[in-house]
Amino acid sequence: MAPTFLQAVTVLLLTSVAHVQAETHTIRFDNQCGQGTPILILGGQIVSNGSEYSTSGNALSGIAYVGECGFNGEGCSLIEFTLNNPICVGCGSSADISLIPPHAFNVPTTFSYFNGCDGQGATCNSATCNTAFFKSDDNQVQVGCQTDNVGLLVSFCTEGSSSASASSATPSSNEPTIFRTPVVTPQSATPTT
Ligand SMILES: *[C@@H]1O[C@H](CO)[C@@H](O)[C@H](O)[C@H]1NC(C)=O
Repeated sequence: MAPTFLQAVTVLLLTSVAHVQAETHTIRFDNQCGQGTPILILGGQIVSNGSEYSTSGNALSGIAYVGECGFNGEGCSLIEFTLNNPICVGCGSSADISLIPPHAFNVPTTFSYFNGCDGQGATCNSATCNTAFFKSDDNQVQVGCQTDNVGLLVSFCTEGSSSASASSATPSSNEPTIFRTPVVTPQSATPTT
């Protein structure tokens, strides 16, 4: 028997509700600096002092930093991100490193996606890196990801290591790995707050 119109609508509604509830994002930290506490701020609140943080059912937009910094990461390298499941072409997740004053390079900083776009990200290892915002129109440094439910690994002092499952047992070359991705059409860039 063919489903009735009402049955079809019900299935559609349940499917879309399930889809919305399924959105989940995780921020993970790897601090190899030997000091300092990674800080994760969402909506003006510290929500993590370096432990993993996940949301379920909504997007995740915020900033992270480590070191002797102002509340919003002033004086430090800043990671800014919005993790959201794309509902239009190119309007998925985006992340970047900002050194726009009052931010300033303090430690090598890396971000990389996992659970989608694995390993894509950026590393800034010096105050002259070309992978961070220095002025507000450096949009090419943003790294996007159009996969649902991606997470972000935020690493400090890891010399460009960006694997979510990085093994400390295997010494790697000192050459930092810099991940480059094509220019991403910025959504509303999350400006430095
Ligand atoms: C982070 O650390 C501060 C200072 O120790 C503490 O007041 C705060 O509750 C912590 N926040 C979280 C989310 O753990």
